[in-house]
Amino acid sequence: MRPESEYSRWVNRNAPHVALFGLPQSTRLHDSLGTFHTVSSQKIMKTSLSLSPAAQTETECLVAVALDRGEKDKTDVFVSTTDKAVQQAAAALISAGDVSGKNFETHWLHNPSGLKAKRLLLVGGGKSAKFTAADLRKLAGAAVRALKPRKLRSLAFVLPDAIPAEDALRAVVEGSIVGDFDPDTYKSDRKDQRVESLTVVTSGDQSNFQRALDEAHTVAESQNFTRGLVNEPSNRMTPTILAQRAQEMCKEAGLKCEVYGADKIKELKMGAFWGVAQGSDEPPALIIMRYEPAGAPEKPVLGLVGKGITFDTGGISIKPADGMEKMKYDMAGGATMIGVMRAIAMLKPKVKVIGIVCATENMPSGKAQKPGDIQTAMSGKTIEIINTDAEGRLVLADGLCYARQLGCTHLIDAATLTGAVVVALGYANVGVFSNDDSFYQEFASTLAKSGENMWRLPVNDEYLDMTRSQIADLMNTGGRWGGASTAAAFLREFAETTPWIHLDIAGTAWMEDNKPWIAKGPSGIAVRSLIEFARGFGKS
Ligand code: BES
Ligand code: MN
Ligand code: ZN
Repeated sequence: MRPESEYSRWVNRNAPHVALFGLPQSTRLHDSLGTFHTVSSQKIMKTSLSLSPAAQTETECLVAVALDRGEKDKTDVFVSTTDKAVQQAAAALISAGDVSGKNFETHWLHNPSGLKAKRLLLVGGGKSAKFTAADLRKLAGAAVRALKPRKLRSLAFVLPDAIPAEDALRAVVEGSIVGDFDPDTYKSDRKDQRVESLTVVTSGDQSNFQRALDEAHTVAESQNFTRGLVNEPSNRMTPTILAQRAQEMCKEAGLKCEVYGADKIKELKMGAFWGVAQGSDEPPALIIMRYEPAGAPEKPVLGLVGKGITFDTGGISIKPADGMEKMKYDMAGGATMIGVMRAIAMLKPKVKVIGIVCATENMPSGKAQKPGDIQTAMSGKTIEIINTDAEGRLVLADGLCYARQLGCTHLIDAATLTGAVVVALGYANVGVFSNDDSFYQEFASTLAKSGENMWRLPVNDEYLDMTRSQIADLMNTGGRWGGASTAAAFLREFAETTPWIHLDIAGTAWMEDNKPWIAKGPSGIAVRSLIEFARGFGKS
C-alpha cells in the first residue's frame, strides 16, 4: 500500500476538510498519548520582480499607492510612481475628487485605460510627508486582504517612489505575505482564498533587488510559520508536537536540533521548569536549535529563549473559565524563536545563534506543584511558588540559565508572560526590558526597520525586592502592582551578568481584531525584529 493512500484514508476519517481542500505540506504527527493529528502549514506565496513598465504588466490586479501631499487640512492626491501610464489611468478618478488618499481607502478601476492589467487598485497611504516603509508594509497587506474575498489569486504591486526602492520592495513583499495569512485551517468550509503570486513592479535594474526580494520572502514566511504554530490548539500542539515541528524545520533548514524530555530536564536540575511540567500527563520538551555557521567567530553567541507553554490553565491557582481557551497561545514566545531560527538558517548571518524553547503544559493534577512549594532552579536559587499561574518565569529561569551554560554571551527571551503588560501597554506595544543599555540600544535600532512597536519598561532593583521570599531566595510573584516589571526582575536574576533583553508579548502575540493588513489571530510579533537583529548582531 502506498503510504499516501493510508494517509488520505486516515485524513478522511479524522479531518475530512483537510483532504477535501488538499492542504499542502500538512504533516501527520502524534502527541505522546498516541493520538494522531494533522498539523497544517500555509501555502507559500510566489514572488517575482518585473522590470518592465507597469503599463505592460499583465495581471489580474495592479496595485498602486495614492498619497496626499496637501499640507494640513488641504488634500492634493497623487499616485506615488514615476510611471506616467499608471498616473494617467487614475487621473480622472483623482480629479473628480473621489480619492481622499486616506489610509487604507481602496478604489477599484476595471479595464483601466492604457494598462494591460484587468484592474487597477488604488490604496490610500495618507500624507506623503509622513509615509514610511512601515506604512507601505501595511498597505501591501491591506491590498492582499482586499483581493482575497474577491477570489483574485495574483497581484502586481507598483513600488511607490516615495520610499527608497529596496526598502519599498522588502516592505511590499513582507506585507503581502503577512496579509495573505488566515488562521482558517480548521474551517470545514475553508475557502482557501490564498493569493498565490505577487509581482513587484519596479523601474531600474538593481542587481540586489532579487536578493532583497528573496530575503523578504524568507522573513515573512518565517513570521507566518510562527503564526501557524501559535494558531494550533493545545490538543494538536502538545510539547511533543511542538518539538517535532521544530525538528522538522531544523532538518529542512539545516540546523542542529536536540530535544530533551523529563529525564534530562531533571538531570540538568531544572527544578523550576520541572515544577511546572510535573503536573501534566503530557511530557515536557526542552528544544535546542543550533545555528553555528562555519567561519563564525567563537563569540558572541546569541541565545534566543522562548516560553513554550502549550496550554496555561494556571495550574492549581487555576484561571477563570472565561477566555481560558486563549491560553493555547502561551507558547507564542517559543514559536517565535522557532520561526526566527528558520529565517536565520536561510539568511545565514556569520554569527552563532542558539534557540531554546521550554515547552510544557501548565496543568492542575494530583502531581501538580502547589502554592507554598519550594523549587530549586538550575542556577541553585530557591523559589517559593506563590501562584502556580506565574509559570512562564519558572520555565524561562531555567531556559536562560541553560543558555548561559551553553555559552551564550547575549540573551533575548520572548514570552506571553504577564497580564500586567497588557494593562500597561495594551495591544499596541511589546514590553521590552533589559539589564544592559547598549545591548538594548542595539536591539531598538532594528525596530524602525521591522516596523514592530515595542516600548521599554523599567526593571530596577525595587521590583526585585518585591519578589524576595521570607523562606526562599525568590517568590514567583511580586504582588499586585508593576507585574510586568516584577516578572522581568525575576528573570533578570537568571540572566545574571549576561546582557539580556526580555520581550513580554502577552498583549501583542494575538490580534484581538481583524485589521486591514492582518488577520485576527496569531500575529507573529517580534519575529521580524529578532531576525533583523540577529542579521546585524556581532557585525560592529
Ligand atoms: N500566560 C499568562 C499571561 C498572559 C495573560 C498571557 C494574558 C496572555 C494574555 C501567565 O502565565 C500568567 O498567568 N501570568 C499571571 C501572573 C500572575 C499570577 C503573577 C498574570 O499575569 O495574571
Ligand atoms: Mn500562567
Ligand atoms: Zn502563561
